[in-house]
Amino acid sequence: MTGAGRVTVDLVAAELSASRDRSLSLLEPLDDAELTRQVSPLMSPLVWDLAHIGNYEELWLLRAVDGKEPMRPEIDRLYDAFEHPRAIRPTLPILGPAEARSYLSAVRSQALDVLERLGPEGLDPARDPLLADGFVFGLVVQHEHMHAETMLATLQLRSGPRSLAPDAPLPPGRPVPVHDDVLVPGGRSVRGTSTDPWALDNERPAHVVELPCFRIDRVPVSNRLYAAFVEAGGYADRRHWTDTGWEHLRASGRTRPMTWQPDGAGGWTCRTFGEVGPIDLDAPVQHVCWYEADAYARWAGRRLPSESEWEKACGWDPTTERLRRYPWGDADPSPLLANLGQRATRPAQVGAYPSGASAYGVEQLVGDVWEWTSSGFDPWPGTRSFPYPEYSEVFYGGDFRVLRGGSWATHPTAVRTTFRNWDLPIRRQIFSGFRTAVDA
Ligand code: AVJ
Ligand code: FE
Repeated sequence: MTGAGRVTVDLVAAELSASRDRSLSLLEPLDDAELTRQVSPLMSPLVWDLAHIGNYEELWLLRAVDGKEPMRPEIDRLYDAFEHPRAIRPTLPILGPAEARSYLSAVRSQALDVLERLGPEGLDPARDPLLADGFVFGLVVQHEHMHAETMLATLQLRSGPRSLAPDAPLPPGRPVPVHDDVLVPGGRSVRGTSTDPWALDNERPAHVVELPCFRIDRVPVSNRLYAAFVEAGGYADRRHWTDTGWEHLRASGRTRPMTWQPDGAGGWTCRTFGEVGPIDLDAPVQHVCWYEADAYARWAGRRLPSESEWEKACGWDPTTERLRRYPWGDADPSPLLANLGQRATRPAQVGAYPSGASAYGVEQLVGDVWEWTSSGFDPWPGTRSFPYPEYSEVFYGGDFRVLRGGSWATHPTAVRTTFRNWDLPIRRQIFSGFRTAVDA
């Protein structure tokens, strides 16, 4: 986490080692057959993600920063995400698990040499913008954490016994009235950042926006609320769905969130990492697509918040007229403020983090579930692609919807008030939920 003060060599080294420990421990329990098979055409074989993590690190820390020659020129194309869609990746001559692991460690040991040679002066913000405050190291660390989350989505789709460590306990929720919402007054606020050292290109620059007043849910929509929509026949009622949403619903046959199954007694069970258990009605609904979130909101007489509304409700402090790094302020996340970093493999119940509330009193904005917004993924005014257009630019203006706030699987280093995620409106293998809003 890079909130306060300059980024040091030690911080960079610690972040690199934390993201690597995480990736390796996710895959450690799985044998070679599990690592190379494809769980779903939506996802890469896990060993592809692993070597792709190493290839990205090689490209940025060894070649871009240090001018090194490609370590294995023949593999670059295999790990270029634009070259081959996920569905066909198992047919590629990708590295096997042992080769992938040794490639990663060879890249990493050279990357640590590069960092040591750069030293504190090398990260000086007055010098190369790629290296300023260790930005390119931050890019590589955040990329690895994003792929750890992607690998968790793969494991969520996998059947068979759970491979993950047991959950740490989460704080209990508290009763929150149905669509208890808070008023966010209209007016000017700041969106985006120009100063957060590891903010990615699509979060930049900071700029002023002016929004009308609105109301936004204090907490994410729970399984209990979402079940009422399902049980009221929401999936069969054309009126709640957009044209493309309805078309997709008909074609896919979806009738409930991805992990729900009828329990035979009028209720629901839920499959989490291969284990079927009772649904926690007080936890945020998870694994819904944008069309489902949008339809629920319409059914409830509400709407999804725009991402500008979400960002204001999350970070704007009307007293200091500053955008906070997190809802509660600029302090690093902790287990009492937010459910982040895969301590548990599920969202906490709604109302579990009153001390993580934003200036307006909105809770659980960061962690638990990614929250769909009504917004498409568009560039902020004055932004520029940095350091490469394929991170954000090539996705602007497409059919993507923005998600905000991170999930239980998101590492604290890879989320903040300004962080923008995006996916297609049909996708729900990600850890996605939502909250609703209404004009005020
Ligand atoms: C920002 C999560 C949409 O995982 O598809 C990963 C990030 N970019 N590798 C993704 C990304 C390159 C991306 N998201
Ligand atoms: Fe990637």
